Amino acid sequence: MEGVIDAHARTLLTARPGFDWTVTEFVRVVDARLPPRVFHKHCPELAVTPPATPSGIPVQLQLLGSDPAALAANARQALRLGADGIDLNFGCPAKTVNRHDGGAALLRDPRRVEAAVAAVAAAVGDAIPVTAKIRLGFSDRRLALACALAAQRGGAQHLVVHARTRDEGYRPPAHWEWIGRIRRALAIPVIANGDIWTLEEYWKARTLSGCRDVMLGRGALADPWLAPRIRHWQATGEHLPATPWAARAAILSDYAAMQHSTLPERVVVSLLKQWLNQMRGRDAEAARRFATLRRITTLDDFLEGLAATQDEMPLAG
Ligand SMILES: Cc1cc2nc3c(=O)[nH]c(=O)nc-3n(C[C@H](O)[C@H](O)[C@H](O)COP(=O)(O)O)c2cc1C
Repeated sequence: MEGVIDAHARTLLTARPGFDWTVTEFVRVVDARLPPRVFHKHCPELAVTPPATPSGIPVQLQLLGSDPAALAANARQALRLGADGIDLNFGCPAKTVNRHDGGAALLRDPRRVEAAVAAVAAAVGDAIPVTAKIRLGFSDRRLALACALAAQRGGAQHLVVHARTRDEGYRPPAHWEWIGRIRRALAIPVIANGDIWTLEEYWKARTLSGCRDVMLGRGALADPWLAPRIRHWQATGEHLPATPWAARAAILSDYAAMQHSTLPERVVVSLLKQWLNQMRGRDAEAARRFATLRRITTLDDFLEGLAATQDEMPLAG
Protein backbone atom coordinates (compact mmCIF):
# COMPACT_ATOMS: atom_id res chain seq x y z
CA MET A 1 0.00 0.00 0.00
CA GLU A 2 1.52 3.22 -1.25
CA GLY A 3 3.08 5.31 1.50
CA VAL A 4 1.89 2.85 4.14
CA ILE A 5 3.14 -0.70 3.70
CA ASP A 6 6.80 -0.67 2.72
CA ALA A 7 9.45 -3.36 3.12
CA HIS A 8 9.78 -2.74 6.88
CA ALA A 9 6.04 -3.05 7.41
CA ARG A 10 6.04 -6.20 5.25
CA THR A 11 8.84 -7.63 7.40
CA LEU A 12 6.87 -7.03 10.59
CA LEU A 13 3.50 -8.14 9.25
CA THR A 14 4.91 -11.41 7.93
CA ALA A 15 6.97 -12.24 11.02
CA ARG A 16 4.25 -14.65 12.17
CA PRO A 17 2.47 -17.24 10.01
CA GLY A 18 -0.50 -15.71 8.20
CA PHE A 19 0.31 -14.26 4.79
CA ASP A 20 1.02 -16.40 1.74
CA TRP A 21 2.46 -13.51 -0.27
CA THR A 22 2.71 -9.75 -0.28
CA VAL A 23 2.83 -7.00 -2.90
CA THR A 24 4.98 -3.87 -3.06
CA GLU A 25 3.67 -0.34 -3.22
CA PHE A 26 3.03 0.50 -6.86
CA VAL A 27 5.90 1.54 -9.09
CA ARG A 28 4.50 4.35 -11.27
CA VAL A 29 5.25 3.75 -14.94
CA VAL A 30 4.79 6.67 -17.31
CA ASP A 31 6.66 6.32 -20.57
CA ALA A 32 10.24 5.36 -19.87
CA ARG A 33 12.07 2.37 -18.51
CA LEU A 34 12.82 3.18 -14.88
CA PRO A 35 16.32 2.76 -13.47
CA PRO A 36 17.09 -0.19 -11.18
CA ARG A 37 17.22 2.06 -8.09
CA VAL A 38 13.48 2.75 -8.39
CA PHE A 39 12.73 -0.97 -8.28
CA HIS A 40 15.12 -1.55 -5.39
CA LYS A 41 13.57 1.35 -3.48
CA HIS A 42 10.06 -0.08 -3.81
CA CYS A 43 11.22 -3.64 -3.39
CA PRO A 44 14.40 -3.94 -1.31
CA GLU A 45 13.53 -7.63 -1.14
CA LEU A 46 14.97 -7.89 -4.69
CA ALA A 47 18.26 -8.31 -2.85
CA VAL A 48 17.29 -11.95 -2.35
CA THR A 49 16.24 -14.45 -5.00
CA PRO A 50 13.34 -14.94 -5.23
CA PRO A 51 12.28 -11.73 -3.48
CA ALA A 52 10.87 -12.51 -0.05
CA THR A 53 10.50 -10.99 3.39
CA PRO A 54 13.01 -12.15 6.02
CA SER A 55 10.54 -14.83 7.09
CA GLY A 56 10.42 -16.15 3.53
CA ILE A 57 7.06 -14.78 2.35
CA PRO A 58 7.18 -13.94 -1.39
CA VAL A 59 6.96 -10.32 -2.49
CA GLN A 60 5.44 -9.45 -5.86
CA LEU A 61 6.29 -6.24 -7.59
CA GLN A 62 3.39 -3.98 -8.52
CA LEU A 63 3.39 -1.69 -11.57
CA LEU A 64 0.87 1.07 -12.23
CA GLY A 65 0.60 2.62 -15.65
CA SER A 66 -1.45 2.71 -18.83
CA ASP A 67 0.98 2.57 -21.73
CA PRO A 68 1.37 -1.11 -22.69
CA ALA A 69 4.84 -0.61 -24.19
CA ALA A 70 6.14 1.24 -21.13
CA LEU A 71 4.62 -1.34 -18.79
CA ALA A 72 6.23 -4.12 -20.84
CA ALA A 73 9.65 -2.45 -20.78
CA ASN A 74 9.45 -2.02 -17.01
CA ALA A 75 8.21 -5.55 -16.48
CA ARG A 76 11.27 -6.79 -18.40
CA GLN A 77 13.45 -4.55 -16.25
CA ALA A 78 11.84 -5.95 -13.09
CA LEU A 79 12.34 -9.49 -14.33
CA ARG A 80 15.98 -8.76 -15.07
CA LEU A 81 16.38 -7.45 -11.52
CA GLY A 82 14.98 -10.66 -10.07
CA ALA A 83 11.23 -10.02 -9.70
CA ASP A 84 9.29 -13.21 -9.22
CA GLY A 85 5.86 -11.91 -10.20
CA ILE A 86 4.39 -8.70 -11.62
CA ASP A 87 1.11 -7.37 -10.33
CA LEU A 88 -0.70 -4.66 -12.30
CA ASN A 89 -2.66 -2.00 -10.47
CA PHE A 90 -6.02 -1.05 -11.98
CA GLY A 91 -7.50 0.03 -8.69
CA CYS A 92 -5.79 3.21 -7.53
CA PRO A 93 -8.45 5.93 -7.02
CA ALA A 94 -6.06 8.88 -6.48
CA LYS A 95 -7.11 11.90 -8.53
CA THR A 96 -3.60 12.74 -9.73
CA VAL A 97 -3.00 9.13 -10.79
CA ASN A 98 -6.38 8.87 -12.56
CA ARG A 99 -5.94 12.26 -14.25
CA HIS A 100 -2.73 10.94 -15.75
CA ASP A 101 -4.55 7.88 -16.97
CA GLY A 102 -3.40 5.38 -14.37
CA GLY A 103 -4.91 2.98 -11.83
CA ALA A 104 -8.71 2.75 -11.89
CA ALA A 105 -8.91 5.13 -14.88
CA LEU A 106 -8.36 2.14 -17.18
CA LEU A 107 -11.49 0.43 -15.88
CA ARG A 108 -13.52 2.74 -18.15
CA ASP A 109 -12.31 0.71 -21.11
CA PRO A 110 -11.76 -3.06 -20.70
CA ARG A 111 -9.74 -3.14 -23.93
CA ARG A 112 -7.10 -1.05 -22.23
CA VAL A 113 -6.97 -3.44 -19.27
CA GLU A 114 -6.48 -6.34 -21.65
CA ALA A 115 -3.82 -4.51 -23.66
CA ALA A 116 -1.82 -3.65 -20.54
CA VAL A 117 -1.94 -7.16 -19.13
CA ALA A 118 -1.22 -8.77 -22.49
CA ALA A 119 1.80 -6.54 -23.12
CA VAL A 120 3.30 -7.38 -19.74
CA ALA A 121 2.50 -11.08 -20.08
CA ALA A 122 4.19 -11.14 -23.49
CA ALA A 123 7.19 -9.24 -22.11
CA VAL A 124 7.91 -11.71 -19.32
CA GLY A 125 6.73 -14.84 -21.17
CA ASP A 126 6.63 -17.95 -19.03
CA ALA A 127 9.39 -16.69 -16.74
CA ILE A 128 7.16 -15.22 -14.03
CA PRO A 129 3.42 -14.82 -13.47
CA VAL A 130 1.52 -11.63 -14.22
CA THR A 131 -1.45 -10.84 -11.99
CA ALA A 132 -3.89 -7.94 -11.78
CA LYS A 133 -5.89 -5.98 -9.24
CA ILE A 134 -9.11 -4.18 -10.14
CA ARG A 135 -12.00 -2.39 -8.51
CA LEU A 136 -15.62 -2.97 -9.58
CA GLY A 137 -15.46 -0.05 -11.98
CA PHE A 138 -14.78 3.65 -12.18
CA SER A 139 -18.12 5.37 -11.55
CA ASP A 140 -20.41 2.35 -11.65
CA ARG A 141 -20.22 -1.42 -11.88
CA ARG A 142 -21.41 -1.87 -15.45
CA LEU A 143 -17.98 -2.91 -16.72
CA ALA A 144 -16.93 -4.96 -13.69
CA LEU A 145 -17.26 -8.30 -15.40
CA ALA A 146 -15.89 -7.04 -18.72
CA CYS A 147 -12.76 -5.69 -17.00
CA ALA A 148 -12.23 -8.92 -15.08
CA LEU A 149 -12.60 -10.97 -18.25
CA ALA A 150 -10.25 -8.57 -20.04
CA ALA A 151 -7.56 -9.12 -17.40
CA GLN A 152 -7.99 -12.86 -17.79
CA ARG A 153 -7.83 -12.69 -21.59
CA GLY A 154 -4.70 -10.59 -21.31
CA GLY A 155 -3.05 -13.42 -19.40
CA ALA A 156 -3.44 -12.55 -15.71
CA GLN A 157 -2.87 -15.63 -13.61
CA HIS A 158 -4.99 -14.38 -10.75
CA LEU A 159 -7.20 -11.38 -10.16
CA VAL A 160 -7.63 -9.46 -6.92
CA VAL A 161 -10.95 -7.62 -6.77
CA HIS A 162 -11.41 -4.68 -4.42
CA ALA A 163 -15.17 -4.74 -4.06
CA ARG A 164 -15.89 -1.05 -4.62
CA THR A 165 -15.88 1.31 -7.56
CA ARG A 166 -13.30 4.05 -7.83
CA ASP A 167 -15.94 6.66 -6.95
CA GLU A 168 -16.80 4.72 -3.79
CA GLY A 169 -13.26 5.31 -2.61
CA TYR A 170 -12.84 3.43 0.67
CA ARG A 171 -16.41 3.97 1.91
CA PRO A 172 -18.13 0.90 3.33
CA PRO A 173 -19.70 -1.35 2.37
CA ALA A 174 -17.49 -3.50 0.17
CA HIS A 175 -19.77 -5.41 -2.22
CA TRP A 176 -18.36 -8.90 -1.67
CA GLU A 177 -21.26 -10.52 -3.55
CA TRP A 178 -20.02 -8.76 -6.70
CA ILE A 179 -16.71 -10.54 -6.33
CA GLY A 180 -18.72 -13.77 -6.43
CA ARG A 181 -20.22 -12.78 -9.79
CA ILE A 182 -16.76 -12.19 -11.15
CA ARG A 183 -15.38 -15.38 -9.65
CA ARG A 184 -18.11 -17.44 -11.29
CA ALA A 185 -17.34 -15.95 -14.70
CA LEU A 186 -13.56 -16.45 -14.58
CA ALA A 187 -11.37 -19.52 -14.88
CA ILE A 188 -8.41 -17.98 -12.99
CA PRO A 189 -8.38 -17.66 -9.19
CA VAL A 190 -10.16 -14.56 -7.89
CA ILE A 191 -9.07 -13.07 -4.58
CA ALA A 192 -11.50 -11.04 -2.48
CA ASN A 193 -10.43 -7.67 -1.11
CA GLY A 194 -12.03 -4.81 0.79
CA ASP A 195 -13.15 -4.13 4.36
CA ILE A 196 -11.88 -7.29 6.00
CA TRP A 197 -11.05 -6.07 9.50
CA THR A 198 -11.94 -9.06 11.65
CA LEU A 199 -12.13 -12.85 11.54
CA GLU A 200 -15.90 -12.55 11.22
CA GLU A 201 -15.59 -10.24 8.21
CA TYR A 202 -13.05 -12.60 6.68
CA TRP A 203 -15.59 -15.36 6.91
CA LYS A 204 -18.41 -13.18 5.58
CA ALA A 205 -16.28 -12.00 2.63
CA ARG A 206 -15.39 -15.59 1.80
CA THR A 207 -18.97 -16.76 2.07
CA LEU A 208 -20.43 -13.96 -0.06
CA SER A 209 -17.69 -14.05 -2.68
CA GLY A 210 -17.13 -17.80 -2.69
CA CYS A 211 -13.39 -17.06 -2.89
CA ARG A 212 -10.88 -19.30 -1.17
CA ASP A 213 -8.38 -16.49 -0.70
CA VAL A 214 -8.61 -12.91 0.48
CA MET A 215 -6.26 -9.95 0.39
CA LEU A 216 -5.90 -7.81 3.50
CA GLY A 217 -5.10 -4.11 3.28
CA ARG A 218 -5.92 -1.67 6.07
CA GLY A 219 -7.19 -4.48 8.28
CA ALA A 220 -3.66 -5.87 8.58
CA LEU A 221 -2.39 -2.51 9.80
CA ALA A 222 -5.33 -2.00 12.13
CA ASP A 223 -4.66 -5.40 13.68
CA PRO A 224 -1.26 -6.84 12.73
CA TRP A 225 -2.47 -10.15 14.15
CA LEU A 226 -5.43 -10.37 11.76
CA ALA A 227 -3.66 -12.65 9.25
CA PRO A 228 -2.22 -14.88 12.05
CA ARG A 229 -5.70 -14.88 13.63
CA ILE A 230 -7.25 -16.12 10.39
CA ARG A 231 -4.51 -18.69 9.88
CA HIS A 232 -4.83 -19.96 13.46
CA TRP A 233 -8.59 -20.25 13.12
CA GLN A 234 -8.21 -22.13 9.81
CA ALA A 235 -5.78 -24.57 11.41
CA THR A 236 -7.50 -25.11 14.76
CA GLY A 237 -11.00 -23.62 14.72
CA GLU A 238 -9.94 -21.53 17.74
CA HIS A 239 -10.25 -17.78 18.14
CA LEU A 240 -7.09 -16.03 19.28
CA PRO A 241 -7.69 -13.39 21.96
CA ALA A 242 -7.90 -9.71 20.95
CA THR A 243 -4.51 -8.16 20.22
CA PRO A 244 -3.32 -6.48 23.45
CA TRP A 245 -2.01 -2.93 23.46
CA ALA A 246 1.47 -4.11 24.50
CA ALA A 247 1.78 -6.16 21.29
CA ARG A 248 0.65 -3.20 19.18
CA ALA A 249 3.12 -0.91 20.96
CA ALA A 250 5.92 -3.45 20.38
CA ILE A 251 5.31 -3.65 16.63
CA LEU A 252 5.18 0.15 16.36
CA SER A 253 8.46 0.57 18.23
CA ASP A 254 10.13 -2.11 16.09
CA TYR A 255 8.85 -0.25 13.03
CA ALA A 256 10.28 3.01 14.42
CA ALA A 257 13.70 1.44 14.93
CA MET A 258 13.73 0.04 11.39
CA GLN A 259 12.63 3.29 9.79
CA HIS A 260 14.95 5.43 11.88
CA SER A 261 17.95 3.55 10.48
CA THR A 262 17.43 5.46 7.21
CA LEU A 263 14.86 8.21 7.70
CA PRO A 264 14.91 11.48 9.65
CA GLU A 265 13.11 11.58 12.99
CA ARG A 266 10.18 13.74 11.85
CA VAL A 267 9.38 11.36 8.99
CA VAL A 268 9.52 8.38 11.35
CA VAL A 269 7.15 10.12 13.77
CA SER A 270 4.73 10.83 10.96
CA LEU A 271 4.87 7.20 9.76
CA LEU A 272 4.16 6.05 13.31
CA LYS A 273 1.17 8.38 13.56
CA GLN A 274 -0.07 7.02 10.25
CA TRP A 275 0.04 3.40 11.46
CA LEU A 276 -1.44 4.26 14.87
CA ASN A 277 -4.18 6.13 13.02
CA GLN A 278 -5.04 2.87 11.20
CA MET A 279 -5.18 1.04 14.54
CA ARG A 280 -7.36 3.53 16.35
CA GLY A 281 -10.57 2.85 14.46
CA ARG A 282 -10.58 -0.72 15.72
CA ASP A 283 -9.01 -0.51 19.16
CA ALA A 284 -10.02 1.73 22.07
CA GLU A 285 -6.54 1.90 23.60
CA ALA A 286 -4.98 2.80 20.24
CA ALA A 287 -7.61 5.54 19.90
CA ARG A 288 -6.76 6.88 23.36
CA ARG A 289 -3.00 6.87 22.61
CA PHE A 290 -3.51 8.48 19.21
CA ALA A 291 -5.50 11.33 20.75
CA THR A 292 -2.52 12.15 22.96
CA LEU A 293 0.37 11.25 20.67
CA ARG A 294 -0.83 12.98 17.52
CA ARG A 295 0.61 16.27 18.82
CA ILE A 296 4.02 14.80 19.70
CA THR A 297 6.90 15.73 17.44
CA THR A 298 9.94 13.92 18.83
CA LEU A 299 10.57 10.22 18.43
CA ASP A 300 11.64 9.69 22.06
CA ASP A 301 8.42 11.24 23.37
CA PHE A 302 6.37 9.20 20.93
CA LEU A 303 8.05 5.94 21.94
CA GLU A 304 7.62 6.83 25.62
CA GLY A 305 3.95 7.43 24.99
CA LEU A 306 3.63 4.02 23.33
CA ALA A 307 5.44 2.25 26.16
CA ALA A 308 3.71 4.04 29.05
CA THR A 309 1.41 1.86 31.09
CA GLN A 310 -2.25 2.61 30.61
CA ASP A 311 -2.40 4.40 34.03
CA GLU A 312 0.50 6.69 33.12
CA MET A 313 -1.25 8.07 30.05
CA PRO A 314 -2.79 11.51 30.45
CA LEU A 315 -6.47 11.74 29.62
CA ALA A 316 -6.78 12.83 26.01
CA GLY A 317 -8.10 16.34 25.54
C1 LIG B 1 -3.11 4.55 1.78
C2 LIG B 1 -3.42 3.44 0.83
C3 LIG B 1 -2.51 3.08 -0.13
C4 LIG B 1 -2.78 2.03 -1.03
N1 LIG B 1 -1.84 1.70 -1.97
C5 LIG B 1 -2.08 0.64 -2.80
C6 LIG B 1 -1.11 0.21 -3.74
O1 LIG B 1 -0.01 0.77 -3.85
N2 LIG B 1 -1.41 -0.84 -4.54
C7 LIG B 1 -2.62 -1.49 -4.44
O2 LIG B 1 -2.86 -2.46 -5.16
N3 LIG B 1 -3.56 -1.11 -3.58
C8 LIG B 1 -3.32 -0.05 -2.76
N4 LIG B 1 -4.28 0.33 -1.86
C9 LIG B 1 -5.56 -0.38 -1.83
C10 LIG B 1 -5.53 -1.58 -0.89
O3 LIG B 1 -4.58 -2.52 -1.34
C11 LIG B 1 -6.89 -2.25 -0.81
O4 LIG B 1 -7.26 -2.70 -2.08
C12 LIG B 1 -7.97 -1.34 -0.28
O5 LIG B 1 -7.52 -0.56 0.80
C13 LIG B 1 -9.19 -2.15 0.16
O6 LIG B 1 -8.82 -3.16 1.05
P1 LIG B 1 -8.91 -2.94 2.64
O7 LIG B 1 -10.33 -2.52 2.95
O8 LIG B 1 -8.53 -4.29 3.20
O9 LIG B 1 -7.94 -1.86 2.98
C14 LIG B 1 -4.03 1.36 -0.96
C15 LIG B 1 -4.96 1.72 0.02
C16 LIG B 1 -4.68 2.74 0.91
C17 LIG B 1 -5.72 3.10 1.96
